[in-house]
Amino acid sequence: MTARTKHRSVKEKFNGRMYLSQVSKNVIFSILLKLIQQYEQDSAKRFGLNLRYRFEFFVRTTTRQKKNMANKNRIQNQTAVVTGATSGIGQACAFALAEQGVNLILMARRAERLAALKDELSKYPVTVKTYVLDVRELDKVNEVFADVYAKHKVDILINNAGLALGLGNIDEGRIEQWEQMIDTNIKGLLYVSRAVIPKMRAQNSGHIINIGSMAGGITYPGGNVYCASKSAVHTLSEAMNLDLVGTNIRVSNVAPGAANTEFSKVRFDGNETQADAVYDGFTPLGAEDIADLIVYILNAPAHVNIQHTLVMPTAQRSPTVLHRDQ
Ligand SMILES: NC(=O)c1ccc[n+]([C@@H]2O[C@H](COP(=O)([O-])OP(=O)(O)OC[C@H]3O[C@@H](n4cnc5c(N)ncnc54)[C@H](OP(=O)(O)O)[C@@H]3O)[C@@H](O)[C@H]2O)c1
Repeated sequence: MTARTKHRSVKEKFNGRMYLSQVSKNVIFSILLKLIQQYEQDSAKRFGLNLRYRFEFFVRTTTRQKKNMANKNRIQNQTAVVTGATSGIGQACAFALAEQGVNLILMARRAERLAALKDELSKYPVTVKTYVLDVRELDKVNEVFADVYAKHKVDILINNAGLALGLGNIDEGRIEQWEQMIDTNIKGLLYVSRAVIPKMRAQNSGHIINIGSMAGGITYPGGNVYCASKSAVHTLSEAMNLDLVGTNIRVSNVAPGAANTEFSKVRFDGNETQADAVYDGFTPLGAEDIADLIVYILNAPAHVNIQHTLVMPTAQRSPTVLHRDQ
């Protein structure tokens, strides 16, 4: 049995179980309703009527909830590319999408992490493909996407790979850090988008999620080049939406506030004390919070394009206005 047929049979079993459980629930509901009607005819009419009303209300509301939840999954069986999938928001997106039944194409630089992630995701009835890719390398990006498109149709692109390096004044900035941020956060996002958008235009469908940042809208001290790079992501998201008007392709810019991932560890060159201090005294966002939001955005009906979302921890109202418990 190939991996693909195995996955399919798991999926069929899963759907079969769901169907059977729905059928048995309906049977149980009708038997209970009959019993209540019988009881009502026999004695205690007033109490019986009340009981039946309560039961019918319960059935109506639980069935409606189930229907809404099922309706929201409009992305099952689609295929998503996630860049920067080995950690934080990208990794959380991989799990959240797998839960929705979305097939995954995951990319990042660290091969061992990709292999471990693929292994962990094998419990879901979806296909998972991984590519070791540094989004700064244009030739490699084109080579990887030629291979992707030889085998798959891409429905969703999550442009997530990105990083901040350092938090110093601009006059003390390290040029190599500026270059890495610009090359990853702006040019890498452009290289990947350039490989994907023409195919989405040809198929006249697709959803691109660009991970911006609150830093793209509000600059904070020492954030200089990182903030500028995320500001560029916001501008590019707007530009993509403008250039794709008249198509069914949607572009959503997702701008998180402080999220506890490896982001700060990377920013402070592996210094865990400095990184932990960023999240001291308040509850930051988790990568899963952003992934949940992304699943919500992706599941919006085809005529709804959520173009920009700013999502912050409740304790944080802007990069510099943050309440920390003593
Ligand atoms: N955490 C926050 O507070 C926060 C707030 C706003 C926005 N963001 C944005 O959210 C995105 C994800 O960050 P995160 O918080 O999840 O941080 P993270 O845990 O450090 O994850 C960053 C991911 O990007 C990948 N990556 C970095 N450079 C890459 C490159 N050149 N090519 C391919 N992949 C690369 C990393 O994988 P490899 O090292 O394996 O390549 C990693 O998987 C970033 O764009 C970041 O700017 C984060």
